[in-house]
Amino acid sequence: MCGIVGYIGVREATPVLLKGLKKLEYRGYDSAGIAVLGGRGLEVCKTKGALKNLEEKVAALLPRADGNPQEARFSGTMGIGHTRWATHGEPSDINSHPHTDISGKIAVVHNGIIENHGKIKEWLSGRGVTFRSETDTEVIAHLINYYYSGDILAAVREALKRLEGSYALGIICENDRDHLIAVRKESPLVIGRGQGENLIASDVPALLEYTREVYYLDDREIAFLSRDSVEFYNEEGERIHKTLSHIDWDAAAAEKGGYEHFMLKEINEQPKALTDTLRPRVIPAGNDGHSLRSVNLAEIGFDSSWAKAGRVVICACGTAWHASMVGKYAFEHFARIPADAEIASEYRYRNPIFDPHDIFIIISQSGETADTLAALRLAKKNGGRIIAITNVVGSTLAREADLVMYTWAGPEIAVASTKAFTTQLMCVYLIALQFGYLRGKLSREELDFYIAALEKIPAQAQAVLTNKETIQRFASLCFNKSKVFFIGRLFDYAVSLESALKLKEISYTHSEAFAAGELKHGPIALADESTLVTALCTQEALFDKMDSNIKEVKARKASTAVITYEDVHHFDQTAGAVFRIPRTPDCFTPMLTVIPCQLYAYYCSVLRGNDPDKPRNLAKSVTVE
Ligand code: G6P
Repeated sequence: MCGIVGYIGVREATPVLLKGLKKLEYRGYDSAGIAVLGGRGLEVCKTKGALKNLEEKVAALLPRADGNPQEARFSGTMGIGHTRWATHGEPSDINSHPHTDISGKIAVVHNGIIENHGKIKEWLSGRGVTFRSETDTEVIAHLINYYYSGDILAAVREALKRLEGSYALGIICENDRDHLIAVRKESPLVIGRGQGENLIASDVPALLEYTREVYYLDDREIAFLSRDSVEFYNEEGERIHKTLSHIDWDAAAAEKGGYEHFMLKEINEQPKALTDTLRPRVIPAGNDGHSLRSVNLAEIGFDSSWAKAGRVVICACGTAWHASMVGKYAFEHFARIPADAEIASEYRYRNPIFDPHDIFIIISQSGETADTLAALRLAKKNGGRIIAITNVVGSTLAREADLVMYTWAGPEIAVASTKAFTTQLMCVYLIALQFGYLRGKLSREELDFYIAALEKIPAQAQAVLTNKETIQRFASLCFNKSKVFFIGRLFDYAVSLESALKLKEISYTHSEAFAAGELKHGPIALADESTLVTALCTQEALFDKMDSNIKEVKARKASTAVITYEDVHHFDQTAGAVFRIPRTPDCFTPMLTVIPCQLYAYYCSVLRGNDPDKPRNLAKSVTVE
């Protein structure tokens, strides 16, 4: 996710900002920029690509020792900086932050998504504002300028009233050389309290060189920083009091937000990632003249022409292929249309049968996986309609597909995919639901019912995470098992595949997934006292079948565990351990059941002394065959 830094004090701001951005590199980014306020007014330098590109661009402009101080560029004691993880608009110089208003006097850096930017843009365009970038952020700079009449804090407060979505902001104004403004709503921002200098940053590591005394900004709070003081206000403009916290972590721990590994951090980020993926695509009841919720998938050109499709093909690799499996079941379930989940590395070398009316969905976290891209090109050659589901704006997949639906999961640093998977699921569910409605297989009321259930998923995911110690304890008892099998039926089978992959990837345990009904056709020969069988049991109509499967492996001395609903006691007598998830329709359980399995894999990896973030032999993005 984007990184924000800001400085107001007595030092030259440029090196402070650049160093701060370096400390936020771990968050993932594709472009960077700074704005500095000094003798030459507000100066902005920004560029696509690595921070080193920005450093070189700025270095070429900095004052030389023998130069005329009048010509000193980027020399000033206050400024803001940003590393951008593209969301709206591909990575480019123009789309990089900071963004300025038309007068060039107000500069803004932003982390988050302004959901109503389209409406604000239209409104401002009608008032003569021309836009330079494709970003949602640019509207903020223009909006503040629109309300500015000499008091920057008042203008920011007015602008905030118009913004919907999530934002952490750093703002400076050429007409006020004594203040830097910071705002937070649903995106992180920390204020560093120094001596004669104050700072802002998305995360603590960027501040540690200057101070260990910080204020954590809460949602809808505004910080008004001068060189010597920091004042806090609520949205109504009332002063509020905040307490200083002392940081005693080391810098490395700070980068992971206090988590021991990126993987654990990313597992814990799933409630927020799921919200970010779902919320912009749901039209709340009442907003389109109906009393029921609906889905807005304009981004993938969802219209009546889709009705002609006779089949859906979903193609991907690794974890994304497991999301495709869930997608296959979801399309069959909601839209009653034939659907296939294809492994890209197989698909590209087959001689697949293709109908131009088919809907071809490609899923890839990185958007750069070589096999997945080859499958995309093959499908394109055959004239299909290609929809990409990806996490990376501007990736090759996003550029080559006809239409793109982004998972707004934020950068995933750990090699093993977690939050990318659950947000991919959210995307396929939304498409399948809308498609089912379009094909007349779901009524308006049913669509509303399912969207309401999806809206509960982030909080339910949070509830599962709250019980993580139970999984940790279980892992401490079982991490040495030489074989771990995951079994399930239908949606639970897809999650079994993902769970077995996660465990083998990072703990190096021999783990496999089986469709529970297949056990008797071979795999049960492997069951013995060294085996742990984890049964995913959330497909209610099949509980008795699963119960029998668990008894079969128990009879062969395997240890057993079950993941089921919190109100189901069907397996209490059979299973060795039971883990519980909140109630949701059976078809949506993959977004919840996978979380204990991710945690189990993580804890086993740690207990075995591995680095879960960098498993042996694996790469995050496999750009070669
Ligand atoms: C690699 C990663 C996996 C990932 C797969 C597909 O194997 O280690 O975690 O699922 O690639 O990656 P993609 O970026 O296409 O989703």
